[in-house]
Amino acid sequence: MADTTSKDLGTELEELLEVETFDPPEGFVADALVKEHEPPADAVAFWAEQARELEWIREPTQALDDANKPFFTWFADGTINASVNCLDRHVAAGLGDRVAFHWHGEGGEERDITYGWLLEQTQRAANALRSRGIEQGDVVGIYLPMVPEVVVAMLACARIGAPHNVVFGGFSAGSVKERMEFSQAKALITADGARRKGKTAPVKSEVDACMGDLDHLETILVVRNTGTECEMDADRDVWWHEALEAAEPECAPAELDAEHPLFILYTSGSTAKPKGILHTTGGYLTQVAWTHKHVFDLKPEEDVYWCSADVGWITGHSYIVYGPLLNGATSVMWEGGPDHPHKGIWWELCAKRGVTLFYTAPTAIRACMKWGAELVQEHDLSKLRLLGTVGEPINPKAWLWYWKVVGGGRCPIVDTWWQTETGAIMVTTLPGAQHAKPGSAGTPLPGIDVAVLDDDGTEVEHGTQGLLAIREPWPSMLRGLYKEDERFVETYFSKWGKDTYLVGDAARRDAEDGYVWVIGRIDDVINVSGHRMSTAEIESAIVSHPKVAEAAVIGQADEDTGQAVCAFVTLEGDLEGSDDLEAELREHVAAKIGKLARPKRMIWADDLPKTRSGKIMRRLLRDIAEGRALGDVTTLRDPDVMAQLEGKVKEAQADGEG
Ligand code: WT7
Repeated sequence: MADTTSKDLGTELEELLEVETFDPPEGFVADALVKEHEPPADAVAFWAEQARELEWIREPTQALDDANKPFFTWFADGTINASVNCLDRHVAAGLGDRVAFHWHGEGGEERDITYGWLLEQTQRAANALRSRGIEQGDVVGIYLPMVPEVVVAMLACARIGAPHNVVFGGFSAGSVKERMEFSQAKALITADGARRKGKTAPVKSEVDACMGDLDHLETILVVRNTGTECEMDADRDVWWHEALEAAEPECAPAELDAEHPLFILYTSGSTAKPKGILHTTGGYLTQVAWTHKHVFDLKPEEDVYWCSADVGWITGHSYIVYGPLLNGATSVMWEGGPDHPHKGIWWELCAKRGVTLFYTAPTAIRACMKWGAELVQEHDLSKLRLLGTVGEPINPKAWLWYWKVVGGGRCPIVDTWWQTETGAIMVTTLPGAQHAKPGSAGTPLPGIDVAVLDDDGTEVEHGTQGLLAIREPWPSMLRGLYKEDERFVETYFSKWGKDTYLVGDAARRDAEDGYVWVIGRIDDVINVSGHRMSTAEIESAIVSHPKVAEAAVIGQADEDTGQAVCAFVTLEGDLEGSDDLEAELREHVAAKIGKLARPKRMIWADDLPKTRSGKIMRRLLRDIAEGRALGDVTTLRDPDVMAQLEGKVKEAQADGEG
């Protein structure tokens, strides 16, 4: 069918590709919270001023302390409680009935979650945790789908000073076990089951299957979510609703040091062992609250905000839970993905709730592009006034589509660069003050010192590619890797010393305005649909299969997901690769790590290219997978390996096409 609208759109986008900068739309600027991007002369004083927006139990008299580099602290003599700032403060101001979340379930269920309800539930849950022996400093795991209880669980932990350790619901129970073990969690909050695209997935029974032998895990609280049958261990397991009902409705918040750990969040690193990123309270809340308000130009009385991430990632922690609640915002919380029950569900919900601020990932935008503009255009999105992206560089075409089709050409787009480690947004544009350039994240936020350096730590000239670095401490920075101080220093503060944080991304800046263009990771971390995966972690999962001798994993450029997992696998003995074995290995990886780590492509290799010292040369594997001419192979122990592999890849491609 000839589709004239999409043809027009195509031509229009083509023309827009010529436009390099987009000024903030006039209508937007008139009411913007920030109209000028003014980096403060004194960044520490700037953040100290922002910290005063929080409700402290004891006001801090100091801001940054750099006496023990790189273990920086912020506001260390202040005391505070995160749940009070997210809830009690608003309820005390008479906002108990304000909706914090319009929750929408996959099956059409709706729940309006008010600040008052959250406060009551949070206090009960906090008491329930205490009654099970959870004390200040004890780690509590959370493995829940996108239901309102996940917010209650996090804030209940914060109320009593028990650092939470949330594991993304898409990770396998095996990953949960590993993360509970690393963090010596004393309790886990999970659910009987989860709704996934119209089906029900068992959660508790999978957790049971691998959690048995963790003796530090004394309690499992189970949210009844789907009615899925599961066994309850009388000594260890309790139903969430029963525990909350039995608990007192009031729980005095713990008075915590600003540097008390708020949470640990595991993320992928260069080695197979995930890194437990540790965030503390006062500085984290300060920067998350400030950025959420000013980057999204939030007017809590009028706006309806929606961040489409999952709470299991840092984006969910900072910009679904803490940021919006600190600012008293009203959000949409959607249980499912973008394509179920239909591919227009996001836009249907945006129209229904009158969403004004929408924050998502480039990979989702690319998927929507593929599904067609009509699915967006059939909904009334006229309330939208700002769009955001996060997770990976956005290609200009997707940016323009987002701007035109979703934003109707009237909404500024903020491309926000940050990481699990940074805790909050670091580089972006302030939407009422700065122009946007499709594909560039923008400039460092006020009070943030981001630079592009060379190997020696000298700033490169604008226009030249180099390594992204952060030269001054910032309030929401990670305070360490949980129980791995040495690895923390080694990973982030050994390249240029203890003052300068190594980001792990390559980048360059524009000569005229210093706009940052993030190019990608410099380590063995790959980015699949905005999710960070460790090649080493996937390799060990594959190798743990009895039929596999060796594996090398690379990120291959992919139109839909940015990068895709591509695995080169050497089998044991004379075993031959087959479609069945490929399927088996993919499932094996799903069970070990989670579905999103499953290789999209698998290549059977008799041998892998290695240096004489035995290091696998992933660069060459990337060249092969992406069909490039091979670079220098002289350092290889056995140069013939490459010829054999090239043959295999061509064979696989011919198979795929035929
Ligand atoms: C890595 C961090 C921050 C929440 C989501 C991911 C890449 C993130 C952007 C962006 C280009 C980006 C970087 C970064 N990244 N945002 N706007 N433009 N690249 O958090 O899992 O800790 O991953 O994601 O490579 O280092 P994460």
